[in-house]
Parts: sequence; structure tokens; C-alpha cells
Amino acid sequence: GRLGKILSLEDFEEAARRHLPRPIFGYIQGGTETDSSVRANRASFAAHAFVPRVLVDTGARSGATMLMGQACAQPFGISPMGASALAAYRGDMVLTEAARDAGIPMIVSGASLIRMEDLVAANPDAWFQAYLPGEEDRILPVVDRAAAAGFKTLVLTADTAVLPNRENNVRSGFSMPLKPTPRLAWDSAIRPRWLLGTFARTLMTHGMPHIENMDAVRGVPLVSRNFVRALGARDRLTWAHFAMMRRRWPGKIVVKGILAAEDARRAADEGADGIIVSNHGGRQLDFSVAPLQVLPEIVAAAGEMPVMLDGGVRRGTDVLKALALGAKFVWVGRPMIYAAAIGGQPGVAHAISLLAEEVRRGMALLGAPTLDDLGPHLLRPAV
Ligand code: FNR
Repeated sequence: GRLGKILSLEDFEEAARRHLPRPIFGYIQGGTETDSSVRANRASFAAHAFVPRVLVDTGARSGATMLMGQACAQPFGISPMGASALAAYRGDMVLTEAARDAGIPMIVSGASLIRMEDLVAANPDAWFQAYLPGEEDRILPVVDRAAAAGFKTLVLTADTAVLPNRENNVRSGFSMPLKPTPRLAWDSAIRPRWLLGTFARTLMTHGMPHIENMDAVRGVPLVSRNFVRALGARDRLTWAHFAMMRRRWPGKIVVKGILAAEDARRAADEGADGIIVSNHGGRQLDFSVAPLQVLPEIVAAAGEMPVMLDGGVRRGTDVLKALALGAKFVWVGRPMIYAAAIGGQPGVAHAISLLAEEVRRGMALLGAPTLDDLGPHLLRPAV
């Protein structure tokens, strides 16, 4: 079938380019302004080459790992991605269930189009990511709702003070709020598999998509003019709000979007259980540094606190390079949403198993029987 031709995560991107209306594909694939950070994320992995060890018994190798007390079948999970249900029918649920079946963590986006309660019911090990304004009376209800829903880990995304300048979205006719432009209508009409299988099916079973997990915008449809205003003043969010969340939240708490060693130190001092070094997949500040480039200095500053990374992870070798440079765990974004769009839950399962196989094969070829055997001694600058 269709999935049999997909040999790597990159293949899912090409398939999704043909399958999705251009504005929606562009929304997922794009970065901001010059797309510099999107390119830098890939280039940062290409800048490292391996020095493998040989004649090591790796027969019992495994990518399984413990992350903040949670058993993970692989050293990677699925990044939070808003509006996944625009690309794939019930997209957020598809990702959540595929992660559960593969035994890997998945972060439910605060901008998901499916209720957080339904997602955590399907996968009790999923994490919840919050987008919050710097307003105490709007933060605590979200935190309390996620706790009551049963999430054990809360992720605060810290790199979205304002909406980014995504020129590609303006050009292609994709906007938040979503406007039914002629371009979008035409592009959908010529992609009947998406139009019928995702969009029409969503409308018939669940109605027009709307935000479910940001209380201030709850029920506001994606097409509403009030949408952006209702997001609130995220440029007022500070460490003081994080401290307040830390006091309130009973479980593990993670800050996502850190790129400076000083901020990693601050997160540890404020009681974070972990951080995700991330430039939001190159989707916020253009020319923000590639996470992999600053990973070693951040690991050095973070002490005992686990350091995770996302941005540009596409291959098992990418996973192994990040772990060799001190990451405890990595997250994968775009390829998983493409996989959901192309193949639904079996598609995401296929993506996870492709990456898992690449990790296992890489460990054998590197002579690393366990993830603890990975280290900077296995890397050199690539020519
Ligand atoms: C994102 N990202 C994101 N991050 C977040 O914290 N909350 C969110 O709702 C979203 N939404 C979102 C939508 C889409 C379509 C994409 C592609 C990304 C960022 C995401 O969590 C992650 O940081 C990057 O996607 C990782 O980079 P790669 O793997 O996509 O290169």
C-alpha cells in the first residue's frame, strides 16, 4: 500500500506535499521570514560525523529509556503541534493513540482541536502543553483543568511572546483565524482525498474545528475574528508566572523553548523537572540558534535536570547525535503530523517504527550497546 513506499520520515513530507492543500502544508512546513532557523536545525545535525567503535557486542541493545520517572520505549516522543486536526482526521487523537501504542510520550498541544480530557483518557501517559498569557486569573484555570483531566506532566511553552511573522502563510492564504479564501477553496477542491477524508468528515462528525484547550478562546471557531485577541498578552508572561504554576501543579513541569544556558539554570532554580531546548522548529524568532548547537553548554548549566531537544530531528542518526551531545531525550514534530495526514494512526505507527529501527541500527553500527554509551567521544566535526 501507500505506506510501503515510505522508507523514511522525509518520504512522509513529500507525500504530504502532494496530499494536503498548499496553505495547510505550508502552515506545517514553514518557518518565519527567511526560514533561516528551519535550515539551521537540519544543518546543525549535518555538522557532526561519527567515529564508530567496532567489535562490540551490541546484541542486547535497546533504545528504551527512563525520562523523569516515565518508562519510554524509545528515546524520542512527539512534539506538541496545534491544529493537527486540520491536516489529518482527528489528528491530535491519532498522534496520541499512536504514541500510546508505541510506548512513547506525546505532548498534547494547548492549541489542539480536541478536548484535552478526551486525549488523556485515550493516553494517560500523554503530557499537556500550555500556551498562557501573563495573567494569573487566566493561568490557574488551565493548570487546574489539566491536573483534573489527569495529566501528570505539564509543559509551558516559553518562546511565543507574540505571534510570529509567517510570510508564507500570508502568501498561501493560511491565517489564524482561518479565512475561507478562494485560494484555500480551490486548493482543497483539487485534493479530494483531503477534502473528503479530513475536512468534510470533520465537519460532518464534529462540526467546524475550534480551540478546545485555551479556556479564554474555548469554543471560538478557528474562523472567528476574536480568535487572536482571545489568546491574551503572552508578552507579559514571566518567571514569576512560572513560579506560580510550579506551586500549583502537582506533577512534573517542563519549560519548552529554552536556548540560553542562563535560562536553563534559571529553570532548574525555579523548580522545573526538565527543559526542552527548542527554537519551536524555526517557527518563532527567525535566526534563533539551532538547539543542537547550544545543547552542550545548556547541558553543562542544567546540572541534574534532564535536558531534552527538538527541531530538525528526522533520522535515527540525528537522535543519536543529540544524545551523544548530552540530551536525555528528543522530540519530533512535523514528520509525525505528515504521517498522520498520509496514513492516520497506522501512518504514525509506521513513522515511529522507521525512526526506532534507525536508532537501533545506528547503535549497532556505532558500537553502542546502550544509550549511556553515547557521548561526544563518538563525534567529530563533519567536513
Ligand atoms: C508546532 N509547535 C508547537 N509547539 C508548541 O509548544 N505548541 C504548539 O501548539 C505548537 N504547534 C505547532 C504546530 C505545527 C504545525 C508545528 C510544525 C509545530 C512546535 C513543535 O512543538 C516543535 O517545537 C517543532 O515542530 C520541532 O521541530 P520539527 O521536529 O518540526 O523540526
